[in-house]
Amino acid sequence: MTTTPSATTAANAAPSYYERHIFFCTNQRAEGEDACANHRAGDAAAHCKQAVKQAGLNGPGKVRVNKAGCLDRCAAGPVCVVYPDAVWYSYVDEHDIDEIVQSHLKNGVVVQRLLTPAHIGR
Ligand code: FES
Repeated sequence: MTTTPSATTAANAAPSYYERHIFFCTNQRAEGEDACANHRAGDAAAHCKQAVKQAGLNGPGKVRVNKAGCLDRCAAGPVCVVYPDAVWYSYVDEHDIDEIVQSHLKNGVVVQRLLTPAHIGR
Protein backbone atom coordinates (compact mmCIF):
# COMPACT_ATOMS: atom_id res chain seq x y z
CA MET A 1 0.00 0.00 0.00
CA THR A 2 1.28 3.44 -0.86
CA THR A 3 0.51 6.66 0.92
CA THR A 4 0.29 10.12 -0.45
CA PRO A 5 2.74 12.44 1.34
CA SER A 6 0.32 15.33 1.15
CA ALA A 7 -2.60 13.31 2.50
CA THR A 8 -3.89 14.56 5.82
CA THR A 9 -6.10 12.51 8.04
CA ALA A 10 -8.41 13.89 10.69
CA ALA A 11 -6.21 12.38 13.39
CA ASN A 12 -3.07 14.22 12.38
CA ALA A 13 -4.53 17.42 10.96
CA ALA A 14 -3.60 19.64 13.89
CA PRO A 15 -3.37 19.61 17.65
CA SER A 16 -6.82 19.76 19.20
CA TYR A 17 -7.86 23.21 20.37
CA TYR A 18 -9.61 21.63 23.35
CA GLU A 19 -8.56 18.44 25.06
CA ARG A 20 -12.18 17.45 25.59
CA HIS A 21 -15.67 18.63 24.76
CA ILE A 22 -18.69 17.68 26.81
CA PHE A 23 -21.99 18.12 25.01
CA PHE A 24 -25.31 18.21 26.87
CA CYS A 25 -28.49 17.50 24.99
CA THR A 26 -30.86 20.29 26.00
CA ASN A 27 -33.47 19.45 23.40
CA GLN A 28 -37.08 20.43 24.08
CA ARG A 29 -39.97 18.79 22.25
CA ALA A 30 -43.60 19.73 21.96
CA GLU A 31 -45.63 19.74 25.16
CA GLY A 32 -46.21 16.25 26.48
CA GLU A 33 -43.30 14.67 24.62
CA ASP A 34 -40.33 13.56 26.68
CA ALA A 35 -36.92 15.09 25.98
CA CYS A 36 -33.77 15.90 27.92
CA ALA A 37 -34.97 19.45 28.61
CA ASN A 38 -37.79 17.95 30.70
CA HIS A 39 -35.11 16.61 33.05
CA ARG A 40 -33.42 19.96 33.74
CA ALA A 41 -30.69 19.37 31.16
CA GLY A 42 -30.14 23.10 30.74
CA ASP A 43 -29.46 23.44 34.46
CA ALA A 44 -27.08 20.46 34.30
CA ALA A 45 -25.12 22.06 31.45
CA ALA A 46 -24.91 25.34 33.36
CA HIS A 47 -23.81 23.50 36.50
CA CYS A 48 -21.14 21.62 34.54
CA LYS A 49 -19.85 24.84 33.01
CA GLN A 50 -19.50 26.36 36.46
CA ALA A 51 -17.89 23.23 37.94
CA VAL A 52 -15.39 23.05 35.06
CA LYS A 53 -14.52 26.70 35.60
CA GLN A 54 -14.14 26.25 39.36
CA ALA A 55 -11.82 23.31 38.76
CA GLY A 56 -9.70 25.44 36.44
CA LEU A 57 -10.40 23.11 33.54
CA ASN A 58 -11.97 25.58 31.11
CA GLY A 59 -10.21 27.11 28.16
CA PRO A 60 -8.00 26.22 25.20
CA GLY A 61 -6.11 22.98 25.68
CA LYS A 62 -8.55 21.98 28.37
CA VAL A 63 -12.32 21.46 28.47
CA ARG A 64 -15.24 23.08 26.65
CA VAL A 65 -18.84 22.61 27.81
CA ASN A 66 -21.49 22.93 25.12
CA LYS A 67 -25.24 22.59 24.82
CA ALA A 68 -26.47 20.47 21.95
CA GLY A 69 -29.68 19.57 20.25
CA CYS A 70 -31.05 16.05 20.31
CA LEU A 71 -28.24 13.51 20.36
CA ASP A 72 -30.68 10.77 19.35
CA ARG A 73 -30.33 8.80 22.57
CA CYS A 74 -33.48 10.21 24.14
CA ALA A 75 -34.61 7.00 25.82
CA ALA A 76 -31.51 7.16 28.03
CA GLY A 77 -31.89 10.85 28.79
CA PRO A 78 -30.88 13.14 30.04
CA VAL A 79 -27.58 12.44 28.33
CA CYS A 80 -24.23 14.07 27.70
CA VAL A 81 -21.23 12.86 25.74
CA VAL A 82 -17.51 13.51 26.14
CA TYR A 83 -15.36 13.73 23.02
CA PRO A 84 -12.87 12.70 21.73
CA ASP A 85 -13.36 9.84 24.19
CA ALA A 86 -16.88 9.12 22.84
CA VAL A 87 -18.10 8.31 26.34
CA TRP A 88 -21.83 8.71 26.93
CA TYR A 89 -23.37 9.42 30.30
CA SER A 90 -26.90 9.32 31.63
CA TYR A 91 -27.06 11.53 34.67
CA VAL A 92 -29.66 12.34 37.27
CA ASP A 93 -28.51 15.32 39.28
CA GLU A 94 -25.73 17.79 39.96
CA HIS A 95 -23.82 15.27 42.05
CA ASP A 96 -23.52 13.11 38.94
CA ILE A 97 -22.25 16.10 36.96
CA ASP A 98 -19.70 16.88 39.68
CA GLU A 99 -18.45 13.30 39.52
CA ILE A 100 -18.08 13.46 35.73
CA VAL A 101 -16.12 16.70 36.06
CA GLN A 102 -13.80 15.50 38.81
CA SER A 103 -13.28 11.95 37.58
CA HIS A 104 -13.44 12.10 33.80
CA LEU A 105 -12.77 15.70 32.79
CA LYS A 106 -10.11 16.34 35.43
CA ASN A 107 -8.49 12.93 35.84
CA GLY A 108 -9.45 11.04 32.69
CA VAL A 109 -11.20 8.27 34.61
CA VAL A 110 -14.56 7.19 33.17
CA VAL A 111 -17.47 7.15 35.64
CA GLN A 112 -18.64 3.60 35.06
CA ARG A 113 -21.85 3.85 37.09
CA LEU A 114 -23.19 6.65 34.86
CA LEU A 115 -22.42 5.11 31.47
CA THR A 116 -25.33 5.10 29.06
CA PRO A 117 -26.12 1.51 28.09
CA ALA A 118 -24.81 0.95 24.57
CA HIS A 119 -28.08 -0.39 23.17
CA ILE A 120 -30.30 2.55 24.16
CA GLY A 121 -31.03 4.98 21.38
CA ARG A 122 -34.00 7.10 20.63
S1 FES B 1 -33.92 14.68 23.50
FE1 FES B 1 -31.96 14.39 24.42
S2 FES B 1 -31.03 12.82 23.25
FE2 FES B 1 -32.89 13.25 22.22
